[in-house]
Amino acid sequence: MCGIVGYVGDKQAQEVVVEGLRRLEYRGYDSAGIALVEGGVVHTTKRAGKLANLDKALADEPLPESTTGLGHTRWATHGPPTDLNAHPHTDCTGRVALVHNGIIENFAQLRIALGGRGHTLTSDTDTEAVAHLLEEELGGGTDLAQAMRAVCRQLQGAFTLVAIDGDQPDVVVAARRNSPLVVGRGNGENFVASDVAAFISHTRDAIELGQDQVVTISRDDVVVTDYDGAPVDVREFHVDWDAAAAEKGGYAWFMLKEIDEQPQAVSDTLLGRYSPDGRLQLDEMRLSDDELREIDKVIIIACGTAFYAGLVAKYAIEHWTRIPCEVELASEFRYRDPVLSHGTLVVAISQSGETMDTLMAIRHARQQGSRVLAVCNTNGSTIPRESDAVIYTHAGPEVAVAGTKTFLAQIVACYLLGLYLAQVRGTKFGDEIAGIVGQLQQIPAAIQRVLAEAEPVRELARSLVDTRSVLFLGRHVGYPVALEGALKLKELAYIHAEGFAAGELKHGPIALIDHRVPVFVVVPPKGRDMLHDKVVSNIQEIRARGARTIVLAEDGDEDVVAYADELIRLPKVPTLLQPLVATVPLQIFACELADALGRDVDQPRNLAKSVTVE
Ligand code: M6R
Repeated sequence: MCGIVGYVGDKQAQEVVVEGLRRLEYRGYDSAGIALVEGGVVHTTKRAGKLANLDKALADEPLPESTTGLGHTRWATHGPPTDLNAHPHTDCTGRVALVHNGIIENFAQLRIALGGRGHTLTSDTDTEAVAHLLEEELGGGTDLAQAMRAVCRQLQGAFTLVAIDGDQPDVVVAARRNSPLVVGRGNGENFVASDVAAFISHTRDAIELGQDQVVTISRDDVVVTDYDGAPVDVREFHVDWDAAAAEKGGYAWFMLKEIDEQPQAVSDTLLGRYSPDGRLQLDEMRLSDDELREIDKVIIIACGTAFYAGLVAKYAIEHWTRIPCEVELASEFRYRDPVLSHGTLVVAISQSGETMDTLMAIRHARQQGSRVLAVCNTNGSTIPRESDAVIYTHAGPEVAVAGTKTFLAQIVACYLLGLYLAQVRGTKFGDEIAGIVGQLQQIPAAIQRVLAEAEPVRELARSLVDTRSVLFLGRHVGYPVALEGALKLKELAYIHAEGFAAGELKHGPIALIDHRVPVFVVVPPKGRDMLHDKVVSNIQEIRARGARTIVLAEDGDEDVVAYADELIRLPKVPTLLQPLVATVPLQIFACELADALGRDVDQPRNLAKSVTVE
């Protein structure tokens, strides 16, 4: 939810920290702030609103030069987005500055206790209490890392904390529990951040921090301990993308760039996973063939767009493996007491690898003895680290809050899982698997064609700026595509949109239809005759009630022509692969309509890319 960065080195900390915040702003944009240590004093500037407000404040009143600092970009949980509630927070003496991502669940008790001990807290946040707790610990003469460990032992909830101390100008200390934190290892400089993007232009060497760990960075050293001060082993990794990947590269919006990167995202996710001897190989599978043969149920858990990727995957996994597959919202999963066993494979799909609902769901699954496999785009994040196996999507960094290329990459990764299970369990012959992999390898070119032919979709979007409600219909794998199309429009354009299974239409939603409601319909390929014909009937039904029909149908499907007010052609692909091409025009439509309405496409209101609170 919030973005955090800390720096110690030989560069100007203000520049490094603000640049890091710019790359982390997707995580929250309710306020931004920075603190630096200079001359034994902590200097802080913070402003409500986007980072541009902080930039202006720093330009008007520059902070002193310093090589140690930290910063924060906020997605508000406790207290409205005001200057006062913006991070960093300080203690009574002003000696400590602290930033936080997550929720301190026992903050109310802590605040009362601190008040009773004479502290004055000025903000509405849960975070400020921690700054005052650090003040108390430091008062006893301990160093900042010791103080942080002592404080963390008193906290409940989820947190990444990063602190600086005016009396210890050469270190930044950070701690984590259930919230993301990575260390960037540079040459004569080190970093801590919520995400490697914050320091990618300085170093690509990173360290993944484990649960309940405290790290002290100085210019030349990184020391990681547990909350009792015992040294711990860490996992070092190299980031396989560079700073250019995290830049807009001439596009008006990150989202447009990421939509255009989809052919590459799909091919990179497939790359290296099919060996010349005709077998699928998944490097970080970590579950043996025997374990995979024991699986008698798959449950996919995820949120938002990742959940819709899971809904698509269900059709393929059941079809290819004959293993029952359920898909469930991660936020609902553990609260309904799901039936889990050692034979259940729980598949957690998450772009960020940090979504709290998904993280809590996998912990619950593991406690119940199930095996967990993560489908994730972020190396070094918590969900893959806490899973038994991982399939990384190689979509590269996704900065726009709305997921696009990672949705397609998640579908591809889940398909690889389905095919791998089929290979191990013998439910598909090798040549059948090879055939499907071959079809998947054709998809990047098909997406490229959809992108090249997207101008009419953009024109359509611009013609619909006065629309108040849009419906999306699909069937089979087209149903999750409809849900995803509706989600994109809601989150980007703030227009009411709903996705329905086309077959459900007559059971209620058809009452919504009149001439003011455009309806997108994803038509299955003609190869699926029955399904195709039923959807064509659905189009006729809604058209008869005055709706404007916007039909997505494959090349050569002439059956839809008479009933389509607008026709968006899709390349011919097998049914199960159709979501990989049909979603793309819907993403472009939402992006263009939002832009035409003057919305902030990359940073829609009220949202954050990474939802690290429940
Ligand atoms: O990082 P995750 O994939 O776990 O995130 C899940 C959802 O929060 C995310 O897909 C969200 O729905 C996006 N804003 C959709 O565009």
